[in-house]
Amino acid sequence: MMTDDEKLWYRDATFYEVPVRSFYDSNGDGIGDFRGLTMKLDYIKSIGMDCIWLLPFYKSPLRDDGYDISDYYSILPEYGTTEDFEKFVEEAHSRGIKVIADLVLNHTSDQHQWFKEARSSRDSKWRDWYVWSDTPDKFNGARIIFVDSEISNWTWDHVAGQYFFHRFYSHQPDLNYDNKEVREGMKDVIRFWLDKGLDGFRCDAVPYLFKREGTDCENLPETHAYFKEIRAMIEKEYPGCILLAEANQWPNNAKEYFGNQDEFHMNFNFPLMPRIFISLSKEDSFPIENIINETLPIPEKCDWGVFLRNHDELTLEMVTDEERDLMFREYAKVPKMRLNLGIRRRLAPLVDNDRSILELLHALIMSVPGSPIFYYGDEINMGDNIYLGDRNGVRTPMQWSFDRNAGFSHADSEQLYSPVITNPNYHYESNNVESMSRLSTSFLNWFRRMIIVRKQNSRVLGRGTIRFIGSDQKQILAFIREYGKEKMLCVYNLSRSPSYVELHLPEFNGWHLREAISSVRFPDIGELPYFFTLPRHSYFWLIMEAPDENS
Ligand code: GLC
Ligand code: CA
Repeated sequence: MMTDDEKLWYRDATFYEVPVRSFYDSNGDGIGDFRGLTMKLDYIKSIGMDCIWLLPFYKSPLRDDGYDISDYYSILPEYGTTEDFEKFVEEAHSRGIKVIADLVLNHTSDQHQWFKEARSSRDSKWRDWYVWSDTPDKFNGARIIFVDSEISNWTWDHVAGQYFFHRFYSHQPDLNYDNKEVREGMKDVIRFWLDKGLDGFRCDAVPYLFKREGTDCENLPETHAYFKEIRAMIEKEYPGCILLAEANQWPNNAKEYFGNQDEFHMNFNFPLMPRIFISLSKEDSFPIENIINETLPIPEKCDWGVFLRNHDELTLEMVTDEERDLMFREYAKVPKMRLNLGIRRRLAPLVDNDRSILELLHALIMSVPGSPIFYYGDEINMGDNIYLGDRNGVRTPMQWSFDRNAGFSHADSEQLYSPVITNPNYHYESNNVESMSRLSTSFLNWFRRMIIVRKQNSRVLGRGTIRFIGSDQKQILAFIREYGKEKMLCVYNLSRSPSYVELHLPEFNGWHLREAISSVRFPDIGELPYFFTLPRHSYFWLIMEAPDENS
């Protein structure tokens, strides 16, 4: 049994997002698989990741990379068998790594047996498992999400002789959560996988489960109520397991998914993510500071998942038109870089592979409130390929070495599920785990060190409060994290130019400062404002010690 404190593991954890398909191919068919992923667990451990988030690995026609599930109870054959999956979870656990998996509740594939039955006859018991209409006019307050490929949330089904509702692709019919069997059926899916040892779920597309006429069909009370039921079930039957929400919403709506500590344990901080890039581009700390203030406070046992990139486009749905224009101007100069309301690029190319910026951004998401969630490959500054369709350009094979196929697979290159990255600036011959591990100054080794520092300070950075320290230098972001007696001062220079700043810290007169990574002592804080000079795109993490300690 876990203690109450152990159940809060997610608050101090580092997360690593991994598509099975992309990580390592053990049998040379060109497609990553569970055995391959298991073989690479020591690597995941070596970069200090506490929890793996698996992208969908269920049976699927793969028209949305597995988010179109055709059988919730079986594993895509290319990825391996149920035994391979169980072995993977067991091996992860034996290394102290937890595993959560994607749970796609909102919709199924149109190839799912439920949908095939549903469309076949109005009398089928499954008909009511989906959302049908004779006209495409219902729920027209619901926005279209995949605006580049869909013109309506309704598609005519010639077999059914009716329209069906879909929030995403037209091959992804939405389930009808007003149907009790659907609600209960999904709870069985949850139990099935938790019984196999998973430590929780990343719940896909949570705001859209219920639909009501006259609303935008997002964040409805019924949807919250259903997730509360799931949470109660988890508390009772699977204590210590977590639910992480994908609820891409404005701060107030996003916060609601924590409920009163009785809904989601975690939620991605979608509001913060684009504003980090906006702050960087404007050399102005305000967007970050402002949005962090807006996304706090949250209930004590809940936490944000903070991230820079993921397997989707960098979404710009929840920013103003002006902010979106700025983002496109700065980060998506070529039309092919855009998709729907977002930017389909990886982190390193987004910032022109600028090492200082990459370090700054990573340090930032490791030091703001929330648990950092990293996307596979970003620790080796992987590049992308905007000429691949949809979001495939950010889902290319992991780069292990300078061998054939980046060491990902023994298959013929033509057989790979996706080409590897060969653009000279990001070529796998240099951007790979083996080469970067050997180079003491590589980004990968910097990342490893930072994760260790983050872990040494996991209480204050994982659970501490945040207080911003204002100054007259808008390009400087400064805050103090505080947890009990532990305090850390973090200072970031968001500017392309060197900067100075005077921080007023009167209540800390006499305190000592120690740089967190090197342990170098800085001058004590005195009566006068504390003066910093910072090279462009740089930062300090400083541990604050009260005058009576170690003096
Ligand atoms: C989520 C996933 C995305 C998928 C969509 C539809 O937004 O992150 O990859 O396409 O849901 O399931
Ligand atoms: Ca394989």
